[in-house]
Amino acid sequence: MLFDQQTYVHRRAVLRERVKHGLILFFGNNESPMNYPANTYKFRQDSSFLYFFGQHREGLVGVIDADSGDEWLLGDDISLDDIVWFGAVNSVADMAVESGVLKSGPLSRLESLVREAQDCGRTIHYLPPYRHDTMIKIMDLLGIHPREQRERASLDLIRAVIDQRAVKSPGEVAELERAAAIGYEMHTTAMRLCRPGVIEQEIAGTLAGIAQSKGCMAGFQTILSMHGEIQHGYPSSRPLEAGRLMLCDCGAETNENYCSDNTRVTPVSGRFTSKQRDIYEAVVAAHDHVREIARPGLKWWDAHFAAARVITEHLKAIGLMRGNTDDALEAGAHAMFFVHGLGHMMGMDVHDMEGLGQVYVGFDDEVRPNLDQFGTCYLRCGRRLQEGFVMTDEPGIYFIPALIDDWRARGHCAEFINYDLVEQYRDFGGVRLEDDLLITADGCRYLGEKMIPYHVDELEAFLAR
Ligand code: GLY
Ligand code: MN
Ligand code: MN
Repeated sequence: MLFDQQTYVHRRAVLRERVKHGLILFFGNNESPMNYPANTYKFRQDSSFLYFFGQHREGLVGVIDADSGDEWLLGDDISLDDIVWFGAVNSVADMAVESGVLKSGPLSRLESLVREAQDCGRTIHYLPPYRHDTMIKIMDLLGIHPREQRERASLDLIRAVIDQRAVKSPGEVAELERAAAIGYEMHTTAMRLCRPGVIEQEIAGTLAGIAQSKGCMAGFQTILSMHGEIQHGYPSSRPLEAGRLMLCDCGAETNENYCSDNTRVTPVSGRFTSKQRDIYEAVVAAHDHVREIARPGLKWWDAHFAAARVITEHLKAIGLMRGNTDDALEAGAHAMFFVHGLGHMMGMDVHDMEGLGQVYVGFDDEVRPNLDQFGTCYLRCGRRLQEGFVMTDEPGIYFIPALIDDWRARGHCAEFINYDLVEQYRDFGGVRLEDDLLITADGCRYLGEKMIPYHVDELEAFLAR
């Protein structure tokens, strides 16, 4: 376990206190088959289960009786055959002791615990499931069809878990720093390898190897492409071309499943053209501005629009946008270029807790999402920052031919966008810069002992070495 027993005991006690009544179920993950049952993907524990129980083994369920305080760790001990193939592991009873859980038993005990609670009319709390095997288990236990399970998940439990996981403890920050150090090595390696003729997949594979060589893995599929305008542009088998930009968005996930998430853009030829530099500097300015303003109490919604304002002002100076900045922002004209939200929470999940429902993770009664405006609808968080939050700061500017054609044909935001000039950027690609901000008592700081180079002079000097 990453932390001592008391940490997990305390986390569950806080949760119990908050939820107050009912039976709380935490489903750990099972092995996930790749192409036949015994050939599985690398095991990944459910983050909430891990947060409250600390155990990495598959096939476990944690149960907390919020009224009585009773706790169980349920799972089936492995067989002799399993020991032959995979080696011995702790018994479920031993794992329960390690996690400070007083009761343990086989998985079959889950059904009787749920029945007893239901017979007394008690609430059964579970989090929105995202794996189909868990959905089948919930259907068998509670008789809820998978298509209804996410919306019928316990809002009390969702909110309680989010409040706890959103604020990172010093121990969690230390683990995030470990991920950041691996992320630094991945990104600086990508920058060094970025040369005309090198295959995108070759670089991405080297990055995966760095993560794996530390025993961990990439926290999400690496985005690495000359087509930075494709938001999830996965590496192709094509060679990098002189004069283009390579966007790399990647991060590590430690053995204890804490992540890093950074994006850098590297000129394949080692230096930016002046056209690239102007766009790049606009993104640098937006990225650095967020670092200046982020602090407890700031609405992340306002940080997003502050970044959008910086981008709009730069694009106006270049001539790509025009008109009154306030009006352009209100109309969402900047989203022709800055198509996504400023950033998201990050922690054990790279998009932290997204599975629990983005509207609960990133919004509250004060700040509601705007799902109607293109661009703003992708903002994953709008609420006020608190000390201990970890947010990604990731503004970007993209030139997406299909979007340009669609908006232009509709005359959308035509008073704010110089479409004739935009046409000259159709093959530009995209620029995003991403770093992970820890919100501190009076401001914020980037995670990572060393910043991955990104200011133009520093970056070009790094590439010249
Ligand atoms: N890697 C996806 C993101 O940055 O959110
Ligand atoms: Mn990213
Ligand atoms: Mn991100």
